Amino acid sequence: MKKDKKTNHEKKRGGHELKKLRKAVRKVQDSKRYEHTVGVEYTAAALAMRYGADMEAAQTAGLLHDCAKCISDEDKLALCKKNHIPVTESERRSPFLLHAKVGGWLAQTKYGIEDRDILNAIVHHTTGRENMSLLEKIIFVADYIEPGRKSAPNLDSIRALAFRDLDRALLCILEDTLSYLRSSGGELDPMTEITWQYYHGILAQNDGRPKEAEPA
Ligand SMILES: [Fe+2]
Ligand SMILES: [Fe+2]
Repeated sequence: MKKDKKTNHEKKRGGHELKKLRKAVRKVQDSKRYEHTVGVEYTAAALAMRYGADMEAAQTAGLLHDCAKCISDEDKLALCKKNHIPVTESERRSPFLLHAKVGGWLAQTKYGIEDRDILNAIVHHTTGRENMSLLEKIIFVADYIEPGRKSAPNLDSIRALAFRDLDRALLCILEDTLSYLRSSGGELDPMTEITWQYYHGILAQNDGRPKEAEPA
């Protein structure tokens, strides 16, 4: 439901729910992670305003996207095993990647979120995926550009781009992430590459001209 279709009563109830969620998330995150969480919440709200998405859904997904981030790798793997959450090869090698999937599961079972789009935005916030919804893109981008982020390259230009062209901002983030992981030898989830291929193809098609080669 779009924000302008909500009654005042629904808006008030939504605000109350967000307040409760903020309090709950604060209990399971250290102060640095919580600051990032609130940064993502409000950046997602700003992007939702810009692109006409449901602002409350964006805030909810932003608040919960890293709700599993402060769970130990060992416990994340145990939670996956116990609850039949599939674990890929790269997630087994680098279990921190699992915080997105486990976060989606917790959002549903612990925080009572039923909206599939919100749950998907949490599950796919680290790698993206093909054909993402508007909310999924908003959370993916907000996670990268929120004001507390300092060290990523091209942040200023990506921040400005995010409010002009969300798909291009998404592609730039994927390119910078791939190039950082390749140069640092970090664990590269194959889904990041699949998402890059997909949006690279779409934007190249929109341009009507071939784009540069895949980033090294
Ligand atoms: Fe995350
Ligand atoms: Fe995050």
